[in-house]
Amino acid sequence: MGQLAGKTAVVTGGGTGIGLATAVRLAAEGAHVFVTGRRKTELGAAGATAVAGDVANPADLDRLYDAVRARGRGLDVVFANAAWASLATLEQVNAISPGPIDPPGITSLFGEDKAPDVKARLGAGVAMGRMGRPEEVAAFVAFLASEESSYVFGANLYVDGGENQV
Ligand SMILES: NC(=O)c1ccc[n+]([C@@H]2O[C@H](COP(=O)([O-])OP(=O)(O)OC[C@H]3O[C@@H](n4cnc5c(N)ncnc54)[C@H](OP(=O)(O)O)[C@@H]3O)[C@@H](O)[C@H]2O)c1
Repeated sequence: MGQLAGKTAVVTGGGTGIGLATAVRLAAEGAHVFVTGRRKTELGAAGATAVAGDVANPADLDRLYDAVRARGRGLDVVFANAAWASLATLEQVNAISPGPIDPPGITSLFGEDKAPDVKARLGAGVAMGRMGRPEEVAAFVAFLASEESSYVFGANLYVDGGENQV
């Protein structure tokens, strides 16, 4: 059984990159995951309930909360990966500061030819000498969402390959 069995999670910006990897990971750990993002077509993460919307739009946030409420199992985990316009009272809040994480967008932005060079240069500025993978951030979110982090509160944790340590 996964370490988040029975939990309910919301991942904003859950259609791509870090948010998608996190939605997939939290679902794999047994959570029921709601994902939101503006482009409905991108919200196909396996095992997640998609509620399209913009986190800057209060009406969209209301629809998201309505969907969570309608399920009737509460809300345990919020991963505010895209900016979050308003926060309910949360019991345990921690922040993650990622370093350069390799998002799918780099290749479409710079093209197949130039993307490897761009990634290498971004990775070279980090102690570990490479960009991170979205799944490496997702693993840390899963830890923070689990009972394993029960005494971690108000922390800002770096998942950055040592970027802030050099
Ligand atoms: N990648 C990095 O190196 C890095 C480093 C440090 C911090 N971060 C932060 O980590 C987060 C995720 O990064 P990423 O690289 O995974 O980015 P990404 O691949 O661009 O993903 C961002 C996601 O957020 C959604 N989104 C954007 N604005 C939204 C809004 N107003 N309402 C709802 N959804 C919204 C986007 O979908 P739609 O466009 O469909 O809404 C998209 O799916 C960002 O906040 C970024 O600033 C990233």
